[in-house]
Amino acid sequence: MSKLEQPAAPPGTLDEAAPRRNLDVLVQEDRVHRLIYTDPGIFAEEMTKVFGGIWVYLAHESQIPRNDDFVTTRLGLRPIIVVRDSAGGIRALYNRCTHRGTTLCRHERGSAKAFQCPYHGWTYLNSGKLSGVPWPDGYACDFKDAQFNLAQVPRVESYRGFIFGTLNADAPSLAEHLGPVTQPIDEWLDRHPGGRVVFAGANRLKYQGNWKLAYDNSCDGYHVVFSHRSLLEMENRLADESKKGMSFYRSKPDDAPMYCRYFGNGHHFKDKRPNVEQRPGALWEIEGAHPGMEYFENEIRQRLGDKANRALDLAASEPVNINVFPNLLILGNHVQVIEPIAVNETNLVWHGTAVIDEAGELEGAVDAVNALRMRTMESFPNFGEVDDAANFEEIQRGLAAIEDEWVYMHRGMDIPGRIKVDENGVITAPATDEVFMREYIKEWRRIMQSRPALRVRREP
Ligand code: FES
Ligand SMILES: [Fe+2]
Repeated sequence: MSKLEQPAAPPGTLDEAAPRRNLDVLVQEDRVHRLIYTDPGIFAEEMTKVFGGIWVYLAHESQIPRNDDFVTTRLGLRPIIVVRDSAGGIRALYNRCTHRGTTLCRHERGSAKAFQCPYHGWTYLNSGKLSGVPWPDGYACDFKDAQFNLAQVPRVESYRGFIFGTLNADAPSLAEHLGPVTQPIDEWLDRHPGGRVVFAGANRLKYQGNWKLAYDNSCDGYHVVFSHRSLLEMENRLADESKKGMSFYRSKPDDAPMYCRYFGNGHHFKDKRPNVEQRPGALWEIEGAHPGMEYFENEIRQRLGDKANRALDLAASEPVNINVFPNLLILGNHVQVIEPIAVNETNLVWHGTAVIDEAGELEGAVDAVNALRMRTMESFPNFGEVDDAANFEEIQRGLAAIEDEWVYMHRGMDIPGRIKVDENGVITAPATDEVFMREYIKEWRRIMQSRPALRVRREP
């Protein structure tokens, strides 16, 4: 029970203007109340209105390339099986037996034409249809009734391989929901041969903190030089120069040409590409030092000669953060997924991505490019994200201080000329600005004040 629900402190010691869960009070122009990160009731509501009421990222098509392939995931707290069914359609089945509710499938991924419940053996086709019940003569009901088929997410759509689902029949189309954030997603994909990547394993992290802390941080250019000091120092010590990795955050990041952008619908973008010269090899030149990289770099240079620089740029970390509300963060060459577990517990899954080269553009160097890309992708989740996760846990600890209620996000506010808004409402600001937080949290409030009608569907 939150302090504000039953205030025990004498009047005046708490800000009495913040009645519990009045989101117009809890979310203000320049600050938000601690309860949006700590209140279990708000979290429970997020798990329907945000994770359910809007489009939520579920999985990537490259994880289920063939018919009958599946991965298990979540839509908020709902366990989900994303499957390419035997007819080739992509479905998001509830991973929940209709008999007594146990999870059906306990595997991370695999291939299956049917799922048999481990509890009493009810079996379902990968279309979600119940196909068999042990000793049916013990039942008087008709198992052809659709109520016994698995629940499934009624709307599942993909954007260039990224699969999303929503339970809200009234939600706009996925394309409308994404809007202009598709432009950086397209650019991120189109730098690869064939405009595609495939997922290639994942780093999995957990932190004891609210899921929004990761989303708040995803476009934060203010923290880098402080929070990631040890990584910056290590990169520069290994490389013995000051132009590597994240060095453009070093002195005064707002003087660098990078920027942050808010696209609407909660989506935002940090574009660090303008810091890098536009020529083949320039991105690779600023890549930090990683153990084992020299061997693969040499192999690529020997094999491709003059064309090596473009291939090496594919192994270098792409300097963008593309953040699709509420749970998909494309950063460098990673696809990070935020999985809320509880009000103060979150999983972060960092999927690595690999290049595929069906047209032979890389002249046989694709394996070396991917091996090198794997070296570069080992770095940030291990040496950088731990800094961020430590911050998230320390924020959650700080937010336990009940009487000290507010979290500020007003960097850049009210400074004339600092923030630009174009005719479509897209907002552009310096890299350290917190305008992206102020905007996405207003969208969060709008969603939390809505009343979406959520539905599942079942095979008839
Ligand atoms: S709970 Fe699945 S068969 Fe009984
Ligand atoms: Fe960070």
